[in-house]
Amino acid sequence: MDIKLIWENKKENLSKWEDLEKYHPDFFKSFEHHSFNSNLDYKTINNSKLWRNKLFWGDNLEVLLFLLNNFKDKIDLIYIDPPFFSGTNYQIKIKESDNFYDSIAYYDYWNRDLSSYLQMLYDRIILFKKILSKTGLIFIHSDWHASHYIRLILDEIFGEKRFINNIIWYYYNKYSAGKKNLPRAHDTILVYSKSNKYTFNQIRIPREKPRKQLKREMVNGVLKNTKDENGHVIYRIVTDKKMDDVWRIPCMQPASKEWTGFPTQKHHDLLERIIKIGSNEGDLVADFFCGSGTSMLMAEKLKRRWIGSDISEYSIYLTRKRLLNYRKNIIDQVKKINPIEIYTHFDEQKKNLISSGFFEKDLKIKRK
Ligand SMILES: C[S@@+](CC[C@H](N)C(=O)[O-])C[C@H]1O[C@@H](n2cnc3c(N)ncnc32)[C@H](O)[C@@H]1O
Repeated sequence: MDIKLIWENKKENLSKWEDLEKYHPDFFKSFEHHSFNSNLDYKTINNSKLWRNKLFWGDNLEVLLFLLNNFKDKIDLIYIDPPFFSGTNYQIKIKESDNFYDSIAYYDYWNRDLSSYLQMLYDRIILFKKILSKTGLIFIHSDWHASHYIRLILDEIFGEKRFINNIIWYYYNKYSAGKKNLPRAHDTILVYSKSNKYTFNQIRIPREKPRKQLKREMVNGVLKNTKDENGHVIYRIVTDKKMDDVWRIPCMQPASKEWTGFPTQKHHDLLERIIKIGSNEGDLVADFFCGSGTSMLMAEKLKRRWIGSDISEYSIYLTRKRLLNYRKNIIDQVKKINPIEIYTHFDEQKKNLISSGFFEKDLKIKRK
């Protein structure tokens, strides 16, 4: 049965974008290159065939159209944590030397216009499918505001047979008031594959207490209890178990040393699980709403190649800073690190911000 979600002015075809596509091959230009390998200076980075991790500063619709040129069927794992239709713009307080000012990390207000929110995601999910590799997985993070709609959109674009999991991230440490409802304490991460053959690494986690379990074995294709020579069943002690689809991971707290001050920063343990499940070393991982760069940092730590993007300058500032700090700390232990390139298209505002040295500044960012 075909069930489709319809909203006001839903646009299903990409015809208007074909014009955009024409001018995208040359759209983004890199403005910064980083390598910490002493054998690699800027010139070698520029000439070599070495993979370069990419961070795009711009609207991800444009980034995706740009990537279609060279990355069709190439991304092994996509994770996105987009705005949730929360009706809030996320404010931050910034300290630069002795000056303080307020700004907005990102916008999620939408003026109650659910149609434009859904269209925004719909357009992008169509393109995610195009750049996802044939064995790739996509993880889409959302919450009660829109996860029920997003699942129908994913069913439409990827097909309901490509549904893999509905992961519940239970954050037990976030205070949530609810007078006439139960406090809301979970997010939803929907997982879909592009085909029926996809990378999926099972993860085992420690049990709270070791457990006595019947030993079982396959006999002629049937799972049976293993017995000793006297016909008695055999027990074994198990200390771990397969990880299921309810994940108990805390929300990031300002006291954490990983805390960046970016509102809605996700916990690195969450990203570690996702990246380990859906990719292997050397695979290409992408996050097109990368915020403070949690996915990029974890991809780097887990030796994956990566592409990140975000529209907010604070996001690019923090992602760049986190990655460079991490690299500074490990440079003595590794032989080779893939360079990072940062791309944008240079409108006046961006040119001014780059030339003001914004990315090199020492800013302290706090959630307001
Ligand atoms: C929920 S936050 C991501 C937080 C991130 N997972 C982290 O751990 O920090 C959503 C991000 O999406 C970005 N964003 C929203 N619309 C975008 C667009 N059209 N293109 C690129 N990024 C966008 C926002 O700037 C924001 O940084």
